[in-house]
Amino acid sequence: MRSSSASPVVVVLAMMVFALGTFPRISTAITRHYKFNIVMKNVTRLCHTKSMVTVNGKFPGPRIVAREGDRVVIKVVNHVPNNISIHWHGIRQLQSGWADGPAYITQCPIQTNGSFVYNFTIPGQRGTLFWHAHISWIRATVYGPIIILPKRNASYPFPKPHKEVPIIFGEWFNADPEAVIAQALQSGGPPNVSDAYTFNGLPGPLYNCSAPNDTYQLKVRPGKTYLLRLINAALNDELFFAIANHSLTVVDVDAVYVKPFTTDLIVIAPGQTSNVLLNTKQGPHNSSYLMAVSPYFTGQGAIDNTTAAAILEYISSPTSSASSNSSSLPKNLTLLLPSLPAINATSAVTNFTGRLRSLATPQFPANVPQTIQKRFFFTVGLGSSPCPKNQTCQGPNGTKFAASVNNISFAMPSTALLQSHFLGKSNGIYTTDFPSNPLVPFNYTGTPPNNTFVMNGTKVVVLQYNTSVELVMQDTSIITTESHPLHLHGFNFFVVGQGFGNFDPNNDPKNFNLVDPVERNTIGVPSGGWVAIRFLADNPGVWFMHCHFEVHTSWGLKMAWIVRDGKLPSQKLPPPPSDLPQC
Ligand code: C2O
Repeated sequence: MRSSSASPVVVVLAMMVFALGTFPRISTAITRHYKFNIVMKNVTRLCHTKSMVTVNGKFPGPRIVAREGDRVVIKVVNHVPNNISIHWHGIRQLQSGWADGPAYITQCPIQTNGSFVYNFTIPGQRGTLFWHAHISWIRATVYGPIIILPKRNASYPFPKPHKEVPIIFGEWFNADPEAVIAQALQSGGPPNVSDAYTFNGLPGPLYNCSAPNDTYQLKVRPGKTYLLRLINAALNDELFFAIANHSLTVVDVDAVYVKPFTTDLIVIAPGQTSNVLLNTKQGPHNSSYLMAVSPYFTGQGAIDNTTAAAILEYISSPTSSASSNSSSLPKNLTLLLPSLPAINATSAVTNFTGRLRSLATPQFPANVPQTIQKRFFFTVGLGSSPCPKNQTCQGPNGTKFAASVNNISFAMPSTALLQSHFLGKSNGIYTTDFPSNPLVPFNYTGTPPNNTFVMNGTKVVVLQYNTSVELVMQDTSIITTESHPLHLHGFNFFVVGQGFGNFDPNNDPKNFNLVDPVERNTIGVPSGGWVAIRFLADNPGVWFMHCHFEVHTSWGLKMAWIVRDGKLPSQKLPPPPSDLPQC
């Protein structure tokens, strides 16, 4: 039996496909096996030790490494009291929707002592993604990188890096995150905020009581190119990232190549990933520099307004090994923080996102849907729910906080939508009347309506196979305008336009970019603004879409799309795996 170690155990070359004359070489797609044991583990940060849910006792969890086209098989065994499911965030899951992972959407959770084998291939994607728990707030501690290398013998459309380094940003809570969200949902108030941000699980030197070896150190050599695989796995915070005295070149977002551009500042929302090139200074060079992350936030209420730092340390001596683990800190640390924007610096965000363009080459085309069959307009934002009798609530004006899409706050079903859909048994589970437009239009970014109560329901949109979809998502000023990082499962989409204020259906589409818009799986709806996306519904299944701020998802800012089977066998959702967990 294999151990619970994190290293990939490449067991079989399952698909030694001999491409008969079509390709000059043998296709080398293989199957990579992993085992994820969900176990409790004591972890200490900021002088607080807690027993927390982990994969294989690791925090952050193990890396998944595969090449484009490979099959990945992960056996997840649940040894903890909590229910578990794991989502492979950004993986297209073409015709493998059963392996997508969101609890009560594509599967019932894996119960204590239960297991489930996630089995999927990764065609047509390369870059960085991540996996995370997809039930309640368990993903606070259950997450790790997915590294998708190009096919063997394929190269990057940029200079080959000397080394590749995953850097996964997270949020550390001294308390148990499950207790934090349970308390908030009970009181109706906002949840307590996190105590620190982290680089690869480490908060770094700027926090009180952070242990000396709880600082992430990236050791580099002068005059080399490093590929940083950035991942924002934080629960509730968009982040600014910068390295003192260094620029970065963005070459990919959400595992899709972009036209490279150089910047001093990276903006990354929860659920987003980005590969960036770091050119180190020409040697000999013995200095160290700080890297830092801080939050971007325009809403109201409390936020973890701290800055986490890590160290970029130059190593010139040819004998010392350059690696990326945290050992002893360099002495005499009086390093300068990189300059990061103010917490509400929307202009810095707009400036950054405005530079993102698909690479759009013959080899890596931007297949933007040019004609649209179905148009949707969704408001996304906050709202409220009445306070139950005999209770006092800590939400807006004594109500409970809620959030919605088109004023529907999504009610989680008690069984998985995908199974109900596959069996044709939607009765009592979900309805197919999710509104294509707001039922009661209003001045979305103007003075909010008096009644801010949301409706509750498990409603979905049904799409025929291969429908080309345009979706405009509009932030509202109900309670507060705020940026919302919306994540769509099962698809990448093209971001064809965005702006501030209310979307203008007559004039704004004239400015849509249908040539080289950025392609991704998570997009920040601008605070007090809108974003327009396009995608082709070529993947049969049930696909969750939600704000990747976990607190907003908890409040109901989520919905689902059902994409029906096409006519051909290759256009159908296969039957469920035999070990699919039941509710
Ligand atoms: Cu990364 Cu549905 O989430």
